[in-house]
Amino acid sequence: MASLTVNGVVHAYDGDPEMPLLWYLRDVLQMTGTKFGCGQALCGACTVHVDGEPARACQTAMGTLAGKRITTIEGLHPQGQHPLQVAWREHGVPQCGYCQAGQIMQAAALLKSRKRPSDEEIEAAMSGHICRCGTYTRIKAAIKQAAASTKGA
Ligand code: FES
Ligand code: FES
Repeated sequence: MASLTVNGVVHAYDGDPEMPLLWYLRDVLQMTGTKFGCGQALCGACTVHVDGEPARACQTAMGTLAGKRITTIEGLHPQGQHPLQVAWREHGVPQCGYCQAGQIMQAAALLKSRKRPSDEEIEAAMSGHICRCGTYTRIKAAIKQAAASTKGA
């Protein structure tokens, strides 16, 4: 019996070690904020944090997660007030919204490691995330606003 922590809550897991984390989050825990896009680690829609690092839940096997700390979009901020979420709303970033949880989780990991990332650093960090609605310009603007709002924090 392994245990892992999801958004601060410890869960025991003794199921299939090959099950993708994405299945566990959505089907077992009913946390549907994390989205299924490609299922092949290509689009970024399923991005969560594993021990603070961005990870693609569709290709992260449950058997690798014993003792790990998972954060999903539901756990990023208890009231949805993470600086990125605030900036996302102010910039009206989402269109269909499907890619956005993954985009925000990737951006949150970036801002943890770089308080004030350059344009190039933002582009490099976000380059693996596909938005079929083409919201890239607003995503970048929102990340810059969030970074500015947290400077010195
Ligand atoms: S669904 Fe995981 S990267 Fe596309
Ligand atoms: S907002 Fe529609 S896929 Fe990104």
